[in-house]
Amino acid sequence: MIRNRVCLLGSMLLFMVAGAEAGIFNTKHNLGSTGLNAASTFSGTREICVFCHTPHGGNGEAAAPIWNRNLDPNGFATYDQMGTTTLDAAIEPVGSVSLACLSCHDGTQAMDAVLNEPGSGRDVPGFSTGLWIGQAAPVEGRIAQPFVASNLGKDLTNDHPIGVQYAGGGYSLTAPAGPGYDTDFHPAASEITGTSRVWWVNTFAPGGTGAFERTDMKLYTRVGNRGGAYVGEEQPYVECASCHDPHVDDKPTFLRIDPVGSQVCLTCHNK
Ligand code: HEC
Ligand code: HEC
Ligand code: HEC
Ligand code: HEC
Repeated sequence: MIRNRVCLLGSMLLFMVAGAEAGIFNTKHNLGSTGLNAASTFSGTREICVFCHTPHGGNGEAAAPIWNRNLDPNGFATYDQMGTTTLDAAIEPVGSVSLACLSCHDGTQAMDAVLNEPGSGRDVPGFSTGLWIGQAAPVEGRIAQPFVASNLGKDLTNDHPIGVQYAGGGYSLTAPAGPGYDTDFHPAASEITGTSRVWWVNTFAPGGTGAFERTDMKLYTRVGNRGGAYVGEEQPYVECASCHDPHVDDKPTFLRIDPVGSQVCLTCHNK
């Protein structure tokens, strides 16, 4: 009995140490009641992943895995709509993984508005009656004014372009670095997996190799429709999660690499 208790205590401590050690637990993306550094926490659950992922019954339309939220692609203004730009590349409507980020960061949906609530059943009383504290409290769980820095809104014309072809679109399934490739950018690396090509831009993060790692800038495959080179073909695009990894706590603002010396920018831009 005593031994069991000691074991239990031991494993609880291990769990606590592991939980507190690294990763999303320590970040503003821990929205549950255990959120330590969170600007907003919700009393309805101690779970973390549930605000974004569900093991069952995820949103089949989403470009993020087993996604637990509704997406709203309507009403966005994209970077190219600000009038004169010097863009070489085409911009697609807001989609891909960016739409998943914006399901919270456009400030229109509550963060606890999930498809499958934690617990038995889809609509769980203990979760539904939970309360927000922190920034989300006065706005019913939404990221809203006056917290403008994390509320991007629907007007994305003043944000770094997303849904934008990498390097002018000079890449495709058959042309890993084709004739249209724009040398204002560092070349993307790629590999064929199945029938698709996946692309990324290598960083020089410590311990990095030529293969894809979470500390590389991830590019997202989309089929371009809005003009530019390679319309109708799979090409690499820059999306929110190209620069950010929503799970990491070892870099500021969920960046994939340390922004010291503007390394984030210089990974892609040849400046
Ligand atoms: C705030 C939202 C959010 C939370 C909370 C979150 N994720 Fe994610 N996760 C995402 C998004 C967005 C993607 C897609 C990212 C991409 O395409 O690189 C993703 C991708 C993943 C992936 C596949 C790609 C990868 O990066 O490995 C795994 C596995 C994953 N999440 C696991 C988890 C687990 C486990 C938890 C809880 C401990 C969690 N996530 C919490 C948003 C979240
Ligand atoms: C479930 C809702 C939700 C989703 C989905 C989500 N976030 Fe967040 N995110 C938040 C909240 C809440 C905060 C804290 C807001 C604040 O402090 O004003 C936050 C903060 C951030 C911050 C600022 C971190 C800091 O240290 O100040 C970044 C960067 C960020 N998110 C990027 C992303 C990206 C990129 C994605 C998609 C890959 C994403 N988020 C998806 C809810 C979400
Ligand atoms: C090209 C790279 C890049 C892309 C794409 C990108 N971000 Fe960021 N983002 C950054 C960098 C770099 C910072 C840190 C800025 C700083 O330190 O002031 C940042 C900061 C943020 C912050 C914190 C703002 C603050 O000042 O507290 C949020 C929230 C955020 N990004 C969300 C998003 C979302 C959502 C998307 C997609 C719609 C996105 N980002 C796309 C590079 C990017
Ligand atoms: C993942 C790759 C990537 C990263 C990282 C990145 N960019 Fe970009 N950036 C692009 C692409 C692609 C475009 C579209 C440019 C074009 O086609 O002319 C772009 C466009 C821009 C533009 C607009 C150019 C125009 O002609 O309107 C500016 C300014 C810019 N980036 C600055 C930055 C800064 C500053 C950072 C770091 C915070 C950064 N970028 C990080 C890929 C990236």
